Amino acid sequence: MKKILLLNGPSLGLLGVREPAIYGRTTLAEIVAMVQAAAAGLGAEVTALQSDVEGELVAAVLAARGAYDGIIINPAAYTHESVALHDAIAACEVPAIEVHLSNIYAREGYRHASLTAPSCVGQICGLGPKGYLLALEALLGDR
Ligand code: DQA
Repeated sequence: MKKILLLNGPSLGLLGVREPAIYGRTTLAEIVAMVQAAAAGLGAEVTALQSDVEGELVAAVLAARGAYDGIIINPAAYTHESVALHDAIAACEVPAIEVHLSNIYAREGYRHASLTAPSCVGQICGLGPKGYLLALEALLGDR
């Protein structure tokens, strides 16, 4: 059975009530349940972690080395500032897909640059919760 790690960064624990005009009304628990259900249907298993702490996300990515077949990561604000997460994703040698609920390229200029995307195999943004499902399918299928 393939193992996928689903990581969500700072403030994503408040999805559902956090700026719903931008991020929608779906909670993180609902997104995790949706991804886990889809994974079960595809014969895979998803472990989810949300953290507001950069070092915890870095540690989780590094610990995925040799333990997971893929990573789905929404680094949230760390997308735009974390060299440490970029390096951890590159170092862990587990294929990662970056997901953003909102279209970061249609928002403030400081969100247009992703430091983390270059160490991922791909990026999905602007499609809301569906982006996580597409990332799962991409990791489990032939890319
Ligand atoms: C986000 C986009 C980021 O710019 C922002 O800091 C977030 C959420 C998204 O999913 O759209 O916290 O990653």
